[in-house]
Amino acid sequence: MSTEAKHASTMNHGKVSLAEAFAQFDEQWSPKLVGELNGQHVKLAKLEGEFVRHRHDDADELFLVLNGHLDIELDEETVALDPGEFVVVPRGVEHRPVADGETEVLLFEPAGTENTGNVDSERTADVERL
Ligand code: NI
Repeated sequence: MSTEAKHASTMNHGKVSLAEAFAQFDEQWSPKLVGELNGQHVKLAKLEGEFVRHRHDDADELFLVLNGHLDIELDEETVALDPGEFVVVPRGVEHRPVADGETEVLLFEPAGTENTGNVDSERTADVERL
């Protein structure tokens, strides 16, 4: 199957295998688009180590951990996420993701949401379709 045909089936009417999707990339901190609905993006990312602290003024952001362990550091607390657990970081709330070892996550947030939010960083990444 050509890459384009694969994209079409993945994005329009095919089921998405998370295991197969994660097997298609190695880059860390570089979210991959695997689904869209109602103006929202479903993205997958591999994370390891500390990210930049940031916020999204116009977007709530969901982090669902699939493998590994992710701490979301907030102002007053740290939310510790193991596989099968998620949190929604409300818009405007400063957060810093810190992944203990390589961690696989699913992100759900409005299309166009920048991974580093209000911060321009070397970690700011364009979202690519898988
Ligand atoms: Ni964020």
